[in-house]
Amino acid sequence: MAKETAGIVLPRHIGFIMDGNGRWAAKRGLPRSLGHKAGAEALRKVVDACRRRGISYVTLYAFSTENWKRPDDEIQALMKLFKEYLDEARGFMGKNTRIIFLGDKSPFPEELRSKMISLEKDSAHHTAMTVMLAMNYGGRDDIVYAAKRIAQLYADKDITAEDINEKTFGGLLYTGSAPDADLIVRSSGEQRLSNFLLWQSAYAEFYFTDTLWPDFDEKELEKALTVYSGRSRRYGGV
Ligand code: FPP
Repeated sequence: MAKETAGIVLPRHIGFIMDGNGRWAAKRGLPRSLGHKAGAEALRKVVDACRRRGISYVTLYAFSTENWKRPDDEIQALMKLFKEYLDEARGFMGKNTRIIFLGDKSPFPEELRSKMISLEKDSAHHTAMTVMLAMNYGGRDDIVYAAKRIAQLYADKDITAEDINEKTFGGLLYTGSAPDADLIVRSSGEQRLSNFLLWQSAYAEFYFTDTLWPDFDEKELEKALTVYSGRSRRYGGV
């Protein structure tokens, strides 16, 4: 359900596919790692702008299950950036923000993994906003993860086949009790979902912009929100 502020219908949950860091760097003759660094800066500002507008859930696609195929030096640079950023993300917590990681944490280096776990634990009781960082995330992997959990509950006789419905299944995804995405924003001109929030975006609106992610700012967010506000959502009805 969306809420309305000053005549604008706001999405409750926005997902961002932060694409174009590499191209942003290439245009400036910089290494790709500096594109990601600029992308992290944009992320910080966009999350802040979402908070000020009263958006309750923000999900950011930081690293997909497919991104492990990238060159080793780029992966190392991203891991270093994630570590630095997660230290900084503690600053969000003072703002009553809950931080959740979507995806299997096990392939990440131990130091990063323990930072992820402690951020989740220390912010679990925060209620003003939820920021979900999709890291080693894939929409198909998310659905398989929920299916495995359902299978285990069934095997343990904690549920019956009749208990399995969209609500119970959806609640076992990495996003848990978070509402479905209302709006998916993708930067850099590509118009595809790339295995992001497959289940959760069943009725999402899509907003695509040519702007490269490091250049995505509050003005761009405003444009996306205005377009979203003008859409008519019918959820299969008339
Ligand atoms: C896609 O751009 C971007 C990524 C795979 C990484 C996204 C990561 C960040 C924005 C860094 C910040 C995240 C955190 C949690 C600190 P691309 O590299 O595919 O760009 P290209 O398509 O132009 O090559």
